[in-house]
Amino acid sequence: MSPHSSTDFILDDALDAAIRRAGEWVAEAQFVVALTGAGLSVESGIPPFRGPGGIWTKYGEPPMDGYQRFLRDPRGAWLERLSPKEDWMRALGDAVRAAKPNAGHHAFAELERRGLLAALITQNIDDLHRQAGHRHVLEIHGNHRLLRCIECNARFDPSEIAVDPERLPPLCPHCSGLVKTDVVHFGEPIPPDVLRACFEAVDHADLMIVAGTSATVYPAAEFPFEVLRRGGRVIEVNPEPSELTASATLLLRGPGAGVLSRLLEHAIAAQQEARA
Ligand code: APR
Repeated sequence: MSPHSSTDFILDDALDAAIRRAGEWVAEAQFVVALTGAGLSVESGIPPFRGPGGIWTKYGEPPMDGYQRFLRDPRGAWLERLSPKEDWMRALGDAVRAAKPNAGHHAFAELERRGLLAALITQNIDDLHRQAGHRHVLEIHGNHRLLRCIECNARFDPSEIAVDPERLPPLCPHCSGLVKTDVVHFGEPIPPDVLRACFEAVDHADLMIVAGTSATVYPAAEFPFEVLRRGGRVIEVNPEPSELTASATLLLRGPGAGVLSRLLEHAIAAQQEARA
């Protein structure tokens, strides 16, 4: 059985009533924050990590010391990045490079444009939220397109740093620190600037929309529980149960693209009704 796709989206009355309620909550909330995971990009052709069709399910989880291995041999790590030997890295890289944002990414960007979404935290490194035109994206696990200095934390577009295979690793033009992919390796601390911004957004949220995550990887998995502890509401969008399901305030059981597009319609209608 493959991960869920839009063909699985059956909008029955019960689900539509739940999505309408979610839309009303979005329109009446003060500060809405979204948290997204790999499931949101499944309908863009990128497999999830866990569960049916997951990258780790297929290839096994990679060792948890990716960052320590980078620090021990940054040149070797760069050579691996430039021509990956690991099957999972090639499979994920190919899927991410070929992917385009789907209706789920676009629905979040439209909610932001209409002032109905204050911040979006994503665990995805695939850049699809930005490609959908989302402005305020907090990429807690980094972005595969960008590079980052591990000393001064500056981030660079690849065009700003010459990656010469004869002279690896590239060094930071500001502080001469080691430059690596912006993607957060296993064992690497989350960059302090993005982590701080995530906690600030979570501290303000009275409503969180959690879409396409198994809610198993921390610190991101903690965020919905923090919103609940502070008396906020949490909406889960996922075709399958996750670690969050038992605690979520409202469950929208279906694939992200279809459910979020419908949620956008209901939120806009509720916003217009409130303004009328
Ligand atoms: N729409 C919405 N959700 C979906 C869809 C879909 N079309 N298809 C699958 N899902 C759900 C699955 O039911 C599952 O709960 O998406 C979730 C994907 O879970 P994971 O594969 O565990 O992905 P994620 O939660 O983002 O992983 C967190 O783990 O390996 C690390 O760094 C990696 O950022 C990643 C982190």
